[in-house]
Amino acid sequence: MNLDFSQIVPYIPFILEGIWATLKFVSVSIVVGLALGTLLALCKITKKRFLKWGADAYTSIFRGTPLILQLMIIYFAVPQLTGYDISEFLSAVLAFGLNSAAYVSEIIRAGIMAVDKGQTEAAEALGVPYKPMMINIILPQALKNILPALMNEFITLTKESALVSTIGYLDLMRRAQIVGADLYRNFEPLLFAGVIYWVMIFILTNIGSLVERRMRYSD
Ligand code: ARG
Repeated sequence: MNLDFSQIVPYIPFILEGIWATLKFVSVSIVVGLALGTLLALCKITKKRFLKWGADAYTSIFRGTPLILQLMIIYFAVPQLTGYDISEFLSAVLAFGLNSAAYVSEIIRAGIMAVDKGQTEAAEALGVPYKPMMINIILPQALKNILPALMNEFITLTKESALVSTIGYLDLMRRAQIVGADLYRNFEPLLFAGVIYWVMIFILTNIGSLVERRMRYSD
């Protein structure tokens, strides 16, 4: 067996910096996805045809094409139209945030629909206007039920983040590849990166369970 982990030791700080690079754009993408996804979900449940159609079309496009294609269109193709170069970071945030919003909107829509109709009826009977009803009554109840599905989405996003290595963003994956090319040894750096991804997901999963348990207290 030809394995020598001692050779990657000098590269460890370089690879570890990738954790921050990855987390930085993934966390911004999650926020973008959540905000836009919530907005889209609200559009999907209104009676206004045009909004509904727009939100459905959005989901169809962003869920119906590969994420890597969306990323490449934003990074390589958009500058052709606008004449402005777009940074790797911004491309990554846009691609991942916009893509995630499509998935999040469906999760939130399902969550809202699962909240008992009586909640809306009671709020309307009490004269609560639409906005406070959604923000204070319906969405908090929906959130509790969709937390596991949202966690799934965040996990997917964190792992799919490795796609940004294809546009040269120096994330964890790209750094592992660079070290592999430098050493002519791929197994060790890739395994190292794999362990780091696993630990990140492990921590994320535990945070999710913790929040879920907290939310159950109120039951
Ligand atoms: N590899 C899939 C794709 O290309 C991942 C999509 C991202 N998934 C998500 N839940 N945001 O399309």
